[in-house]
Amino acid sequence: MKFNTKTIHGGQKHDLAYGAVMPPIYQTSTYAQSTPGGHKGYEYSRTHNPTRNALENAFASIENGNYGLAFGSGLAAIDAVLKLLKPGDEVISTNDLYGGSYRLFTRIYKDFGIKFHFVGMDNASKIENYINGNTKLIWVETPTNPMMNIIDIKSVGEIAKRRNVLLAVDNTFATPYLQRPLDLGADIVMHSATKYIGGHSDLVMGALIVKDKDLADSLYFIQNASGAVCGPQDSFLALRGIKTLHVRMQRHCENGKAVAEYLANHPKIEKVYWPGFENHPNHDIAKSQMDDFGGMVSFVAKGNNYDEAIKIVENLKVFTLAESLGGVESLAGHPASMTHSSIPKEEREKTGVVDSLIRLSVGIEDIDDLIADLEKAIR
Ligand SMILES: Cc1ncc(COP(=O)(O)O)c(C=O)c1O
Repeated sequence: MKFNTKTIHGGQKHDLAYGAVMPPIYQTSTYAQSTPGGHKGYEYSRTHNPTRNALENAFASIENGNYGLAFGSGLAAIDAVLKLLKPGDEVISTNDLYGGSYRLFTRIYKDFGIKFHFVGMDNASKIENYINGNTKLIWVETPTNPMMNIIDIKSVGEIAKRRNVLLAVDNTFATPYLQRPLDLGADIVMHSATKYIGGHSDLVMGALIVKDKDLADSLYFIQNASGAVCGPQDSFLALRGIKTLHVRMQRHCENGKAVAEYLANHPKIEKVYWPGFENHPNHDIAKSQMDDFGGMVSFVAKGNNYDEAIKIVENLKVFTLAESLGGVESLAGHPASMTHSSIPKEEREKTGVVDSLIRLSVGIEDIDDLIADLEKAIR
């Protein structure tokens, strides 16, 4: 099955009871048993739920994995991966990443005895300097949030395999429409399904997808034992979202490109971060590992001025000033005070997340309205 067909049919079975084309929302916590242990495959909804299972099968299908797991948020999914580790283990992570991931690593897991190295992975070989006998996990975001840095998944995967370390890729920005990390050598793909997968800004959810059975079993154990699962209503909404992922992503990419090019040619704009530009760092890698460049664009206005940046985001009307990304509607964010405020200023600025940086999640509205909105706000 090709990708566009998989988004609609991948891992799905028609409902056995009445032939419902969409999986029913099994809004139940428990399941009748004829005798202890005598059930139809479902005992309790933290462990399994038919609607969530349908979604988990869809996750596995679109990422070319064998096993999918759904969680109550993207961070709950990341948390489950970190629970594979033991005190004394070490993690090498991209140094530019979602602020909440950084907070989970440094404010929770560091205190449990896990050591984190935050490394600029513009060249994969830099990782080698940080790998030792305790290294158990490499955490990669690509494109990174919000600087749109590109990391070579295949090269990192080769190092991870050679050194017997797990590689997890946060594929939230790219989605499997653009990039399939398991095919490039990653062991785990993670999503904030809150974003493009759900696609309509109406749910909070996380996903993990793997190929390996033992790894899947360990993660299923953690999912059930820790219990950060999502409910059947949200599972249904995410499944519905996946069915239009390919059509939405196509328009996100078209509009993202138009907005990036408009900003790059604007006399009042200093710098635009979008991996489709030929001079974007690692553009060639983006071109080889992604099928297009997505709908996320970050930029800094001339003068690099905090007040100017705030004025721009306040004056936008079609773009909504809000946290999050990946919905059909365009959003604008100010990473330093919003999504990345949990990263100390000195750390943030080392990777380019300055106080004047604005991040856009370009939606699927009419491009003329989006450009006109930006033009008014910037002028
Ligand atoms: C790249 C990335 N990873 C992970 C997360 C966390 O996901 P959630 O908000 O669903 O917990 C986010 C949220 O913005 C994100 O942008």
